[in-house]
Amino acid sequence: MTPARSRRLRLTESAQNRSPQWIAESHFWIGVCSMAREDRFEFLMSPETSGEDPESQPNPAVPRRSFLKGMGVAGVALSAGSLLPAALNAQADSGAITKGDAAILRFLAAAEILETDLWLQYQELGGVQDDEVSKLASRFIPGYPAEPTGGNSLYMQDLLPLDSDMSQYIHDNTEDELTHEVWINNYLVAHGAAPANLDAFRTLPSSKATGAHQIGRLTNLMQLTVDTSWWTRYRSRTKNPDLGDTFKPAIPTLAVNQHPAIPRTDNDANFPDFFQAIVNTAGFHFATIEQGGTSLYPSLAQRVTSPTVLRILLSIGGTEIMHFQTWQDKAGNAPQKDVVDPVTGVRVTFPNLNSTSPPPGLVLEDLQTNLIMPEPTFFLQKRFGPVSIIRPTATKGAAMGAVKALTADGLFIGQSQGFFDYVRELAEDADAARREC
Ligand SMILES: [Fe+2]
Ligand SMILES: [Fe+2]
Repeated sequence: MTPARSRRLRLTESAQNRSPQWIAESHFWIGVCSMAREDRFEFLMSPETSGEDPESQPNPAVPRRSFLKGMGVAGVALSAGSLLPAALNAQADSGAITKGDAAILRFLAAAEILETDLWLQYQELGGVQDDEVSKLASRFIPGYPAEPTGGNSLYMQDLLPLDSDMSQYIHDNTEDELTHEVWINNYLVAHGAAPANLDAFRTLPSSKATGAHQIGRLTNLMQLTVDTSWWTRYRSRTKNPDLGDTFKPAIPTLAVNQHPAIPRTDNDANFPDFFQAIVNTAGFHFATIEQGGTSLYPSLAQRVTSPTVLRILLSIGGTEIMHFQTWQDKAGNAPQKDVVDPVTGVRVTFPNLNSTSPPPGLVLEDLQTNLIMPEPTFFLQKRFGPVSIIRPTATKGAAMGAVKALTADGLFIGQSQGFFDYVRELAEDADAARREC
């Protein structure tokens, strides 16, 4: 047994000893079983009822035996396979995916679980308050209330300058992430591989402001350090992070210190200009998160083996690009503010990004808010000339790079060592994956 596998087993066993988490994980899959008889059936991959894409069958060239060997007997025994509904078990018998493909999908499932967690916090405050998202979340997240919170009226009001449809977009982005995590985990289990599960780490506190559920969270949106260098990165015509280039942030004050993207308490509403700055921070954070997914999927896709897994990464990754493009456009509408956090004393400044006097080292086109289409830039080798592309897409260390970026974001402030160990292990396994011929 490798040291990494040994650590995973210890983690799983410790979760088992802390029975609430283990029970939660078991209930997740038992819940999936029970859904087969209810209106939740749309989330099951049942060939009898939902139809099956003939091109989606696992690669017959990869024998299941080699996958089992790669996983290790204990790994398979600890997977959720034994708790599968019949529909998924039937698929599990139809073939397998490689160990590397499973590792990449499992890391992506974990990333999607984290995305869902943060987006639900935004949804509770600022999203459209129908019960579509909350009902769905309650089916897959232990203890998540099925009823919407009613939102935070001031948060919603301050979203309007960014776009009158912000609440709908937040709602839909949240739903998208939830389906990403559930679907990828379903696919993993159906192909005999263990899913990602972070339920043991839902321990961070919620915002105390009106509109937030009081439940344990995986991510912290109240102490963010937001990297907005994607703004100038996508506007550069000569630089590419994969060629070693670096980029200045659009909002320099967000790149240092800690900033809330949701109100901590209702007291924050007593400072209207600062409250708008909180919402502005969220507006830029939306795009920061989604540009990460925009790069992560194509970066990892280069190392998958199965054409179907490649199709999964391209298809889900494309929606991350759609999210990023939307949020990039909306962030440019954030009202100018220069305010100090009444709690921490930290200053945050949202400048005029269309100023004809840009900061030193930048030109107007580096910040201009309507330049949301990616400018052509150099790719692979400069001698090929410029081309409009997603950037970065280098595959080496892409999973760990994503973990480091999210950690630097402040999203995991307050999380346990066990959380970091688990996520790092998933990232290491994903980065060790290689495309097999
Ligand atoms: Fe996603
Ligand atoms: Fe996303």
